[in-house]
Amino acid sequence: MNRRKQIYEGKAKVLFQGPEPGTIVQYFKDDATAFNNKKKGTITGKGVLNNRISELLMTRLGEIGIPTHFIKRLNMREQLVREVEIIPLEVIVRNIAAGTLSQRLGIEEGTTLPRSIIEYCLKNDALGDPMVTEEHISCFGWATHQELDEIVNLTLRINDFLCGLFQGIGIRLVDFKIEFGRWYNGDDVRVVLADEISPDSCRLWDMKTNEKMDKDRFRRDLGKVEEAYQEVARRLGILPESGPGDMPGSKAMQ
Ligand code: TYD
Repeated sequence: MNRRKQIYEGKAKVLFQGPEPGTIVQYFKDDATAFNNKKKGTITGKGVLNNRISELLMTRLGEIGIPTHFIKRLNMREQLVREVEIIPLEVIVRNIAAGTLSQRLGIEEGTTLPRSIIEYCLKNDALGDPMVTEEHISCFGWATHQELDEIVNLTLRINDFLCGLFQGIGIRLVDFKIEFGRWYNGDDVRVVLADEISPDSCRLWDMKTNEKMDKDRFRRDLGKVEEAYQEVARRLGILPESGPGDMPGSKAMQ
């Protein structure tokens, strides 16, 4: 880890300069935060699982033509990605009412929404990631109209694809957060899916029991957090039936 120059340390990941210009190494930590950093903790093995889960989801999305920053996984906790300029928005997609939607609008948690909703929050920790509208986004130049159109198109495709993928393994994709970046490639600029997609940034409910299989177990002190992340990975087919102990190099889980 010390070989490379650290570019940025976030709540759940560290970014290092990649081996070639225009590349970055994403290192996944076990650290977990919630409620805008007010709650902090560690979920053992989370970084290893999120690295694998995000790799799988980004790869599958790439296969259906969604441009992503993902290049390849390097090891248990690191993946190589394209360097992009992050568009400072958290794009939230909701299929079922939960979390702040339920709190703000009094919609009972678990209500299936008649249509998927996209919300935007400005990525600004000091302001507590406030929700913003397309008007704010274009007025303040965080993204152009054209970029927002592209973001909406990609987001709806990502949502449809992921809903189906999770449904196939008995999981309801309640809501999730994604981020996009601008990839400068010669004279060309493309909006690409960036950051990660993992149980840190999704609400995933078991279809039979409605049990939560995501970071809400940490947020709400529900226990069995590690087990929930492992179960998602197991159902996605990236964890041996017998658990993470059987993964090559499993000491890195600690
Ligand atoms: P939301 O209900 O708005 O907020 P919270 O998670 O604080 O209750 O979250 C909707 C989804 O987006 C949920 O799956 C968590 C994810 N999300 C993040 O990953 N990071 C964020 O900063 C926010 C606001 C949401």
